[in-house]
Amino acid sequence: MNIARLVYSSHPVGSVASRELFEILEASQARNAAVKVTGILCHSPDFFLQVLEGEPDAVCATFYRIVRDARHDRVRLLDFSHVPRRLFRDWNMGLAGIGDIRAELIARHSPTGDLAGLADEPAAAVAFVAELAAAMSHADETAAS
Ligand SMILES: Cc1cc2nc3c(=O)[nH]c(=O)nc-3n(C[C@H](O)[C@H](O)[C@H](O)COP(=O)(O)O)c2cc1C
Repeated sequence: MNIARLVYSSHPVGSVASRELFEILEASQARNAAVKVTGILCHSPDFFLQVLEGEPDAVCATFYRIVRDARHDRVRLLDFSHVPRRLFRDWNMGLAGIGDIRAELIARHSPTGDLAGLADEPAAAVAFVAELAAAMSHADETAAS
């Protein structure tokens, strides 16, 4: 299967309460599962960085819907690439809050040292999500063993 990976950033409108985030995630997981889209949603209080991966038309259709969502704005497409394999194949949509991500990982990739700085460096954002995926799958394996 031809796999596309899309990375975008955006900013929540107002503050997104954890209940709202949970609702977004629950709806996303069901819809993404139906069209075999996987990925991750990273968030800090004022920033989102999301990866969508799957069949190219499914990824684009999902992204076009997300762009119209009034719960966030300043959506910036950082990368759309055809890739040999998924980074987050076990996640219909994973969630990584700022507290779940190693500060060192963000500091090493972001020009400003925070998650939001990745919006200004698309290549760094892609390198960051690739390393995050590796760290998460390693954590999964460690938890399972
Ligand atoms: C930050 C953010 C991430 C989202 N991620 C997804 C997603 O991965 N998949 C999805 O189907 N909807 C996602 N949504 C929700 C969509 O924007 C939209 O509300 C939902 O798909 C329902 O679309 P509809 O009302 O046009 O049917 C996300 C919304 C936000 C604000």
